[in-house]
Formats: sequence, C-alpha cells, structure tokens
Amino acid sequence: MKLFDKYTLKDVMMRNRIVVSPMCQYSSVDGLPNDWHLVHLGSRAVGGAGMVIVEAAAVSPEGRISPGDAGIYSDDHVEPYAKINRFMKQHGAVPGIQIAHAGRKASASRPWEGDEHIGPEQGGWETIAPSAEAFGGTLPKVPQAMSLDDIARVKMNFVQAAVRALDAGFECLQVHFAHGYLAHEFYSPLSNKRTDQYGGSFDNRIRFMLETFEAVREVWPERLPLMVRLSVTDWIDGGVTVDESIELTRQLKASGLDLLDVSHGFVTPDISKIPWGPGMMLPIAGRIRKEVDIPTTASWLITEPKQAAAAVADGQVDVVSLAREMLRDPYWPYHAAKELGVEGAEQILPIQYARAAKT
Ligand SMILES: Cc1cc2nc3c(=O)[nH]c(=O)nc-3n(C[C@H](O)[C@H](O)[C@H](O)COP(=O)(O)O)c2cc1C
Repeated sequence: MKLFDKYTLKDVMMRNRIVVSPMCQYSSVDGLPNDWHLVHLGSRAVGGAGMVIVEAAAVSPEGRISPGDAGIYSDDHVEPYAKINRFMKQHGAVPGIQIAHAGRKASASRPWEGDEHIGPEQGGWETIAPSAEAFGGTLPKVPQAMSLDDIARVKMNFVQAAVRALDAGFECLQVHFAHGYLAHEFYSPLSNKRTDQYGGSFDNRIRFMLETFEAVREVWPERLPLMVRLSVTDWIDGGVTVDESIELTRQLKASGLDLLDVSHGFVTPDISKIPWGPGMMLPIAGRIRKEVDIPTTASWLITEPKQAAAAVADGQVDVVSLAREMLRDPYWPYHAAKELGVEGAEQILPIQYARAAKT
C-alpha cells in the first residue's frame, strides 16, 4: 500500500490515503458553519487531501466545548454543511464529520481566551457527565451526574446528528469517543464513578459507547463508513489501557465499526506520562490493526511525507490523519507527492492552479 494509492472503504473511494483530522475552529454562532468553515475546509479539499473531516460537531448545545463550537443539533445546520460538502466533493475530497458531546469539558472559553470553564454571564451553561466529578485544572466545574433519562436523551442526540449528517451529504461519519469528552468519561474509571449498569466493570463502562454506536449504526447506511475516534489509553495508572481498548474495538467491530482512529489521553489534566514524539500513536495503531483485523488511522505528530508513506506501507494504518501540519500547509498532499516523486503530482492541484504551478 502506498500513500497515494486510492483507498476504498465500503462504497466510498478516497483519491489517496491522507485525511485531514477534525479540528475545532471555535468560529460558529449557534453551532452553524459559515464562510470561515467553507474556506478552511474547502482549502484543504483543494489542497489534495483524500478525506476532510469536519471538526467535532456537537450533538446538542450543552455538548459544545465552547460557545463557538460547531454543532449538528438542529435541522438549520444541515444546509450550511451541505454547501461546504458540495464544494469539497467538487474538488475531489470525501467529506466526513465528527459528532461529539463534550461532557464535563463543555462550557469553556475558546483556547485563545484561556480554555477555562465559563459561567452563564459569559455564555456558559451547566455541564453533564457520568459522575459529578470535575475535570480539574482550568475546567473546575462539577458536572451533574447523568440520569438514565439523560443517557437515553444523549444517545438519541447522537442518532439525530447522524441522520442530519447524512442529509447534509457527508460520506463518512466519525463518532467522538476520545480526548476526555463524554463517551470517554464513561469509558475511563478515572472519570466514571457510577455504581449502576453504566459504571464499574469494563462491560459497564463501555455500555454507553456500545449502545450509542449501535444506535448510530442503525441510521448510518451500511454503504457508508462509520468511524470511531477512541482514546485507547489514558497514560495514567488506573485509567484505560490499550489491552482494554483492543477488546472494546473487537466489540465495536462486531457492531459494524469500519475504521478506528487510534487516539489517546486527556481524560484528566495529567499529561505527564504522554510519550510525545513523531508518529507516537502509529505502533499502537499497527498493533490494533493486526490484533483486531480492523482498518486504522492515527494522527499525532505525523508531518513528514516519508514518515506518512512508511506508516501506510508498513501496515500500521490504512490512512494517515494530519491536523496541525495541515494548518501550516493546506497543500501538504501536493508537496508530499512531489517529495515522494509521485508521477503526476501536479494533477493533485485544481485545474485553475496546476498548469501555472509547473512554470
Ligand atoms: C486547532 C485544533 C483543533 C482540534 N479539534 C479537534 C476536534 O474537533 N476533534 C478531535 O477529535 N480532535 C481535535 N484536535 C486534535 C487533532 O485532530 C489531532 O488529533 C491532533 O492535533 C494531533 O495531530 P497532529 O499532530 O497532526 O496535529 C484538534 C487539534 C487542533 C490543533
């Protein structure tokens, strides 16, 4: 497998194996995508990525990280996404979206405003989570422990978001089960202190994820890929482990998972044991891919074309995901193709640019 080989998953074909990882833009009002999103996402489609995944779109207003987050919790959201998707498809990228609920990390200011919990006077709101335990650090708000009715409602919010994503023309759906947000808060014993059927044992801690995933799979067509982004380890003693996540992935696969985005961490403010380094998640992604026999992707410090090409060639991932490098260079796929000596690299550029870029 090569980085610039096409990749087919279900009925969807990507022109190469490069994915733009979801990135919150904190630039929405009432969750609506706008011209910023069209230009941001459109540029990365024009830049040659095989798939562009829209940032975490909240399944309910209370599930937004900040008041500026994108959302997909109302029918009014559908057409603005559809417009962006038409543009991305016209430029050869598969449009994907991540649907999310931020749990106890919701109601925060934007990163450039401090990434701190905010009260109602600053546009904040009350948060919910599996247990009434605060995240800590700059997010000290104690969430309300979710009742069984709350759990049922949020699962339904995910289902409704999936239906809207389909209506908006997305061709790949990613369910956000990572980074210390609501689903991960159920999964991790560090945040889940429940004593009912949603807490305690491994089977109980994964129940929210499995039930949500299965409900979403019922409305997301079989012909289209359904992804999960999972924090496969908390990197903290007493937190979730890769071995547990392998078992969880097996169960998700049995329920119809098509591709796992192997991510990590952030369920507490303790990031002291994260082994930062280039491509740090790739070996774990490779292990899960092999042991579960499931297509994978991973992000985290994949920046170099040769590194990305090796990750695909060595079978660590089926597709690579890039985030920050794609902010620095929306034309990364074009530049990577040139560096790797891919024939016809210019054709990655849109027709308006391709001829001129050669001269
Ligand atoms: C500005 C920004 C916003 C992000 N927003 C999201 C998001 O909405 N959902 C998500 O799962 N990850 C999000 N991430 C994490 C990225 O998708 C990615 O996993 C991470 O940045 C590591 O990849 P990189 O080293 O290529 O940047 C965000 C990262 C950045 C830099």
